[in-house]
Amino acid sequence: MAQNKDIPEILPTHAAFIMDGNGRWAKKRGLPRTAGHREGAKTLKKLIRDLDDIGIKYATFYAFSTENWKRSDEEVSALMKLLEENLDDLVNYKNENVRLRFIGGRERLSDVLQKKMNDAEEESRTRTGMTVTLAINYGGRDDIVHAARKAAELIKDGFIKPEDLTEELFGSLLMTEDIPDVDLLIRTGGEQRISNFLNWQLSYAELYITDALWCDFDRKELIKALEDFAGRNRRYGDAK
Ligand code: FPP
Repeated sequence: MAQNKDIPEILPTHAAFIMDGNGRWAKKRGLPRTAGHREGAKTLKKLIRDLDDIGIKYATFYAFSTENWKRSDEEVSALMKLLEENLDDLVNYKNENVRLRFIGGRERLSDVLQKKMNDAEEESRTRTGMTVTLAINYGGRDDIVHAARKAAELIKDGFIKPEDLTEELFGSLLMTEDIPDVDLLIRTGGEQRISNFLNWQLSYAELYITDALWCDFDRKELIKALEDFAGRNRRYGDAK
């Protein structure tokens, strides 16, 4: 049953999330870091349902960064396994109208995970509800370099001239393609960084950083962030 009385009138079209603090959540309980990630996956599933219920059109989550390969083999394997295990029912629920997409380099991921990602994208391609994007092996700079290579190819092959390359065209060459820029970035766990997430797409995003750890981030915390967003004065560089 939707409890929609609590929803602010002004909502972000696109909310993005840096899901930080799983390790700390586990440590506080004397558990291994991987237990924090397992709990974090549960939080993610619940939050997707809340976001859909609230009416957010695009939600993007930083599940694994290009830098996360530096973590221990044990932690990397646990994260990859969690992704494999959870992809099937991440967005299949209730009205089953949620589209799942992925950004990030796939070549370094296991064949099993790549197949699940391709299947989930294919299966949900025509859905018209919320678009959930998971960033896996994603880096904002890597995204920009890929787009720059595509632009260079277009110029080399004579499809466009250098002066045809606008911000809009360049934006469409990024991994997010047709997904609009981020309106609200929520980072849990208190760190005040972007951490190489959606560098281009965050240009005019409002930033909301909470000390709540990802595993503790729930609908109530989400509503707090949305209320804060609704009160912001977005000027996009204008003086008003
Ligand atoms: C950062 O917390 C979190 C991650 C690197 C992984 C985020 C992944 C999940 C929430 C699970 C994703 C699962 C699915 C199914 C998509 P941290 O480990 O850096 O925490 P710390 O700052 O407390 O050490």
